[in-house]
Amino acid sequence: MKSDSIHGMWSSRLMFVLAASGSAVGLGNIWRFPYVAGENGGGAFVMVYLACIFLVGIPIMVSEILIGRSARQSPINAMRTAAEASNATSCWQLLGWMGVLAGFMILSFYAVIAGWVLAYIFQLGSGMFTGSSGELAKSAFDGFVGNVWEVLAWFTVFIGITISITARGVSSGLEVAVKYLMPILFFLLVVLVIYAAFTSGHFLEGLQFLFSFDFDKLSWNSVLVAMGQAFFTLSLGMGAIMAYGAYMPKDASIVGTATLIALMDTGVALMSGLVIFPLVFANALESSAGPGLMFITLPLAFGQMAGGQFFGCVFFILVAFAAITSAISLVEPAIAWIVEKLNTTRLIAALLVGGCVWLLGLGSVFSTNIWSDVFIFGEMTFLDTMDYVTNNIILPLGGILIALFAGWILSSKIIDEELVADRWLYPIWQFLTRFIAPIAVSIVFIMALLQD
Ligand code: TRP
Repeated sequence: MKSDSIHGMWSSRLMFVLAASGSAVGLGNIWRFPYVAGENGGGAFVMVYLACIFLVGIPIMVSEILIGRSARQSPINAMRTAAEASNATSCWQLLGWMGVLAGFMILSFYAVIAGWVLAYIFQLGSGMFTGSSGELAKSAFDGFVGNVWEVLAWFTVFIGITISITARGVSSGLEVAVKYLMPILFFLLVVLVIYAAFTSGHFLEGLQFLFSFDFDKLSWNSVLVAMGQAFFTLSLGMGAIMAYGAYMPKDASIVGTATLIALMDTGVALMSGLVIFPLVFANALESSAGPGLMFITLPLAFGQMAGGQFFGCVFFILVAFAAITSAISLVEPAIAWIVEKLNTTRLIAALLVGGCVWLLGLGSVFSTNIWSDVFIFGEMTFLDTMDYVTNNIILPLGGILIALFAGWILSSKIIDEELVADRWLYPIWQFLTRFIAPIAVSIVFIMALLQD
């Protein structure tokens, strides 16, 4: 077992937890979870999502961390090293390549949404939503995303921020930022839940929507979307957590840490739902409004709240930070690989990756304006397609392969070394990784295909 990576190391287990939860907690929790839950009918969807987090997500997160930590390299090279050490074919490194590609695809639309968030910091700060109605908030959103130059500018700013942070490396600057920002985000979310609980008058309806299990409404496609959301929100299936695991101190318990991260992430998602749905019902908005949901409900809530101009602005700043700490994990696998392979600086690697993502992202920038009637599949725009394909196909597929590799191929010597701190949980992890995760993901894939 190597004790260090050439890219640097987290200074403690806590810093790994913060970095990994920084990766996990992001737009997936605050923006995507409420709107996909809304589109897929609520309760039953949430149940499937939670089951996927605990039965499939946590075991795969453990697998990613342990592969990364044993090799202390970028996911592409970590897969190769781990495969060679286990006498398996080095073709397994293709999994690392698939992850790099997925990271590019995800960031290309993620940065567009994050750009909307940046713009909303200023819109809320300007007080334009003060006393606003549901209708006004909706037309303000439609007007904003319809403006190609504005969306393009904010998207470019977000990519720029991501590049400038990753170029500096696994820095103490990032560690410090995450250390303060994540707790503040958590705190403000609690304030908002309380606000929604007491002032919307529809909190129970919100609760019911999220937690009443009406399985009749659930199609296999919704099950697939719930599973994809579980992968997305935990940052699994493309090597982000594997890359972060490579910088994790070797004495920390992997299973305990992964469980903690999953719990925090789930907490943030459910709280976001408890903020957004009561507001949806209170203002007679559509729960299935799609990607715009957060950008309509939250400004509305803040617009009606005392001090809302200030809190709204702060909240969107924090959402932006959550998005940044996630975005950097989307490019870390590619950047670490370029540094290892080309022996170049992180700055060059980061610029290269940023340039590619920017180009690919243009398609998503245009999806709400000049290309809003260009559909790739069915009614899906470029942005919707990137989102759908990565979340519902590439990430779960990557996840199955990681589970199969860790469960059946990886040498037990490596696993023993990495899981020393988790002895009694080892058999449970192994059972879930060998059988439950691959079988569950396969069944969902097959059923969703058959049903269409
Ligand atoms: N988990 C993040 C979110 O919820 C997004 C993210 C970061 C991600 N890194 C990832 C998703 C890797 C999939 C794979 O916002």
